[in-house]
Amino acid sequence: TALRSFIEGMPKTELHLHIEGTLEPELMFALAQRNNIKLPYDSVEALRAAYDFSDLQSFLDLYYAGANVLQTEQDFYDMTAAYIKRAQADQVRHAEIFFDPQTHTERGISIATVFAGIAGALRDARRTDGFGGAMIMSFLRHLSEEEAFDTLEQALPLRDQYQDLWNGIGLDSSERGNPPEKFQRVFARCKALGFHLVAHAGEEGPPEYVIGALDLLHVERIDHGVRSEEDPALMQRLAQQRIPLTVCPLSNLKLCVVKDMAQHNLARLLDAGLAVTVNSDDPAYFGGYMTANYLAVAEALTMSREQVLTVARNGIEACFLNDEEKATLM
Ligand code: ADE
Ligand code: ZN
Repeated sequence: TALRSFIEGMPKTELHLHIEGTLEPELMFALAQRNNIKLPYDSVEALRAAYDFSDLQSFLDLYYAGANVLQTEQDFYDMTAAYIKRAQADQVRHAEIFFDPQTHTERGISIATVFAGIAGALRDARRTDGFGGAMIMSFLRHLSEEEAFDTLEQALPLRDQYQDLWNGIGLDSSERGNPPEKFQRVFARCKALGFHLVAHAGEEGPPEYVIGALDLLHVERIDHGVRSEEDPALMQRLAQQRIPLTVCPLSNLKLCVVKDMAQHNLARLLDAGLAVTVNSDDPAYFGGYMTANYLAVAEALTMSREQVLTVARNGIEACFLNDEEKATLM
């Protein structure tokens, strides 16, 4: 259709993407073989068939298990390079990528290995294709704040070496029962260090977690945030302050945040004046990259070209580039 080719050709930014969530089953098996790791699945098909989630936690269990195949710098490089190639096919020009060092350091992988592999692929893509990238180091909220501080201390000696990429701090993993206030001190430290701040909030958790992320963690963007709709005062604030929501339609569907795509609130959030963006979250697990996410939600909600374009412009407005750099993405 006309809308399909419009969406396919539209330049895009990606602001909510977990690099560990781009590990496709084929690459997972290849890395398992390379590293002599036995996966609890017989085949790529059997693994894919297991991607049938009932909520966030049921996904996270598989996502953390899948990350075990990542051992060397080359593994992180290959995963990131594969993502960039896929993103470029979808006309993504700039991606601000989450990574979860704790998923790897807990298994004895050094944080330097994680940084080097991801940054290596981003730098090569910048040099050869002009693909824009940034790295947002995210803390796992099911772990303690002390462990987050620990991770920050391990990463800070690398800051100079990766200052061209590492510009942000995020918060992800199991939302319910792990409210933003649990990480208030470590986020204050990251703010003092000059990092951009974001946090997952209002995916499965209540609107109070979105308010907490804003008032206690001082984040600049909310990752997901779809449950903000339950609080009219919060909705007004998000609209007035133009606080971006990085919404992930296929993720919300696969993790049963919405029952079907026709019930997704993205168009309502947009109509209410919020700075809504579309993103892919964990595309290897949720069945689609950027174009698929735009298409799924635009078709289900019969969005106009103008609405789709507004979402894409919101993505440029919301990214952590300066105005001059943003202008190159228009
Ligand atoms: N880690 C990877 N994807 C996530 C999501 N959608 N929510 C919370 N943590 C995550
Ligand atoms: Zn996410």
